[in-house]
Amino acid sequence: MTDVLSFPSSFEWGCATAAFQIEGGASEGGKLPSIWDDFCAQPGRIKDASDGLVACDHFHRFREDVALMADLGFHHYRFSIAWTRVVREDGSANPEGLDFYRRLLDELAQRGITPNATLFHWDLPSHLQRAHRGWLGRETAHRFADYAALVARELGDRLPRVATLNEPWCSAFLGHDIGVFAPGVQDRPSSLLAAHHLMLAHGLGLQAWRAERSGTQLGIVLNPELCDAASDAPQDVAAARMAELERNDVFLNPLFKREWPAEMLTQIGELAEQRRPGDIALCAQPLDFIGLNYYTRSIAQAPVSADEQRRGYRFVPPDPQRPDLTDIGWAICPQGLDRVVRNLVAQWPLPPIWITENGAADNAPVVKDVCDDRLRLGYLQSHLAQLSQMVASGLDIRGYYVWSLLDNFEWAHGYSQRFGIVHVDYATQRRTPKSSAHYLQQLLSSPTTP
Ligand code: FCB
Repeated sequence: MTDVLSFPSSFEWGCATAAFQIEGGASEGGKLPSIWDDFCAQPGRIKDASDGLVACDHFHRFREDVALMADLGFHHYRFSIAWTRVVREDGSANPEGLDFYRRLLDELAQRGITPNATLFHWDLPSHLQRAHRGWLGRETAHRFADYAALVARELGDRLPRVATLNEPWCSAFLGHDIGVFAPGVQDRPSSLLAAHHLMLAHGLGLQAWRAERSGTQLGIVLNPELCDAASDAPQDVAAARMAELERNDVFLNPLFKREWPAEMLTQIGELAEQRRPGDIALCAQPLDFIGLNYYTRSIAQAPVSADEQRRGYRFVPPDPQRPDLTDIGWAICPQGLDRVVRNLVAQWPLPPIWITENGAADNAPVVKDVCDDRLRLGYLQSHLAQLSQMVASGLDIRGYYVWSLLDNFEWAHGYSQRFGIVHVDYATQRRTPKSSAHYLQQLLSSPTTP
């Protein structure tokens, strides 16, 4: 498979993580709790009743982890900054928390690895949830802009590329409609209001960053949807369209100064009053790049239950007996990467694209010091073959980050799903590179992928 891959020499290869999922060090150096700490503390929310208090203990082991990335041949690293580590409740800088990221950035620089930082990967400070109802309050968007300005001032000289938000769809809809993510709200109009405030935060954040510093490449990371209809019946086709409007248009339209589709304006109902004239123009700041995360495609059919009718669609979960599922139950569909990118490029004037996450849950164990994660290996090979063709066909995709460097805290699944190319034994914190890591190491050292 390796020999069919061909990428330009400028193509960037990286691995990705997120603060809450790996750092631990939950109360060190004045770190404040986030809504994910609160969510984990609620019984029944996390599959294995776990939390992020220790996670991969990256807070203490970051040097070892950076050495691992370097050994595997990565020159790019996407990580997130924990808002709760670097900003105190009164909005002032927390020097101890900032020092952690300075030490991390020093280590990356020494190993020749370029950082790509995300400001918000879901770990909203708990005090903003309490005081302003989190993303249901407009004030949170302004606080995010203050936080962005603070990071620009304190760390910006070391950060060439910064994304405001990771997958705002998850914060908005998993967090406020389905309720399976923090803060666990279940109310359709609220989820749309949260989506609006997240995009406002993005726009205000970019403005605030640029007011502090020029020269940083700025963007956002989305997880666009590829949703096929379960059948040709017009009701199923309409349902698949509704799923894509929610996942794509709600986030991409504001980026390009377009109003939401009428269907979404209907769904937000009376809360629409909280969207102010001029907000869309604020959301639509110039973008230097867009990050796209891709894992799977989905299938929708006409809604049945009252909740589904409010959303306008019903997801059809893949048959668990199907052989082409990853361990978390997501369908493997490499062609979907091509379809979803082309679908977006046809509808919105996207800036250069980076694939900022792609990977698979494969819970293969370590046996005699070896972790042979064949499912993930096949997944990565098929997706990279697809990506190679896409780049060759002229799509402006400049880099790829595998999710994830390490097994880590997989949100509502806790530690039960392993996405790392490096196995983590949570009892000992021992790291063991898996077969997929060795495959990527070889790929990155080959002449077609310098
Ligand atoms: C994405 C998240 C990332 C990780 C992967 C599996 O939606 O951005 O944190 O959980 O899924």
